[in-house]
Amino acid sequence: MGKNILITGGAGFIGSHVVRLMVTKYPQYQIFNLDALTYAGNLENLKDIEKAANYHFIKANILEPAALKAIFEKHAITDVIHLAAESHVDRSIVSPLDFVYTNVIGTVNLLNTAKEYWKDDLSNHLFYHVSTDEVYGSLGKEGLFKETTAYDPNSPYSASKAASDHFVRAYGETYHLPYVVSNCSNNYGPNHFPEKLIPLFIHNIINKKALPVYGDGLYTRDWLYVLDHARAIDLIFHEGKNGDTYNIGGFNEWTNIDLVKLMCAQMDVKLGRAKGESETLITYVKDRAGHDRRYAIDATKLNKELGWSPSVTFEQGLDATIDWYLNNGPWLENVTTGNYQTYYNSMYSNR
Ligand code: NAD
Ligand code: DAU
Repeated sequence: MGKNILITGGAGFIGSHVVRLMVTKYPQYQIFNLDALTYAGNLENLKDIEKAANYHFIKANILEPAALKAIFEKHAITDVIHLAAESHVDRSIVSPLDFVYTNVIGTVNLLNTAKEYWKDDLSNHLFYHVSTDEVYGSLGKEGLFKETTAYDPNSPYSASKAASDHFVRAYGETYHLPYVVSNCSNNYGPNHFPEKLIPLFIHNIINKKALPVYGDGLYTRDWLYVLDHARAIDLIFHEGKNGDTYNIGGFNEWTNIDLVKLMCAQMDVKLGRAKGESETLITYVKDRAGHDRRYAIDATKLNKELGWSPSVTFEQGLDATIDWYLNNGPWLENVTTGNYQTYYNSMYSNR
């Protein structure tokens, strides 16, 4: 059946992979990519599909309700997959309000628009909210985040995402808006903006720049290849239960320092450097404020109920990711000049 799907944040890292998957896999759907093109939005990410007949880009901001209303009316939007967000924890520590505006108020604007536009018949519509495992807070040495784990966010970013999740559920309860929420662990892969650990360190290793490891480097993250996240979103969008929540993760925990050493070793080989050369770039710097010690997702429900599991191992995914950055120098160059460079200098100069 045809659908007119509004995907927000489709020019960003994960959004661009979701847009590509939906555009290519479902020619019967019209895909509307709504993105404000902030520093993190990059239409280069979608160059290969921009001419597809069922793909449409709309430059708009979720902070503008009138624009959202006009978009729903003009394109008869049937479903929303909402990824637009401010997504970087370090930026949220510097500018929390930006996160409140986009992640909380922007999400509520979108909920209001969908609720109003779909009010005559809520059936056959879906508001899919893409969220993060960070809403659950930090784990000790043991245990995993389950869908039933209580929310306990620690950073302004995760607090804003937690608030947006609560609003989505509240609209489901109060106005019967059909919705699903998914909470995913750390993604990595092509098109990841080099302010986040993996792409930043790939960029710095290539350029023989210091690798700034926060604190003792023993913080743990659970890494998932971005295309596997996109596959999970596709599956949940089509088969998820109304009002339900799904955790997505790869059962793939790494301490930051072990991960960085693995990247250094893989890149020494690819760059023809001596064994151990890139590791000498590792520099321990001041810790992130409120740094969550460990994230780890229990994705059993998604596996048991919908049959999802990751399609690549971490070694395969990391290898493909490094190759992508090595083969896409102009993309990396483009996003690491200008404003980003100013941000980078201000973030790391006093660490
Ligand atoms: P990103 O920062 O790469 O992309 C965000 C996109 O949203 C950009 O294209 C940006 O231009 C757009 N955007 C920002 N503010 C906007 C606004 N006001 N109006 C319209 N568009 C706006 O983010 P990402 O890493 O791709 O994350 C996408 C979503 O997935 C976010 O909701 C994030 O919380 C969630 N998530 C991310 C991860 C991860 O590891 N990156 C993991 C789990 C969940
Ligand atoms: O868990 C999902 C979340 O993962 C998403 O919701 C966020 O949008 C995404 O940014 C990511 O958050 P993290 O804070 O975990 O990712 P980041 O890449 O910023 O950091 C990963 C780990 O590496 C974290 O422990 C901090 C550390 N780090 C990060 C940077 C940028 C460093 O040691 N040095 C660095 O320079």
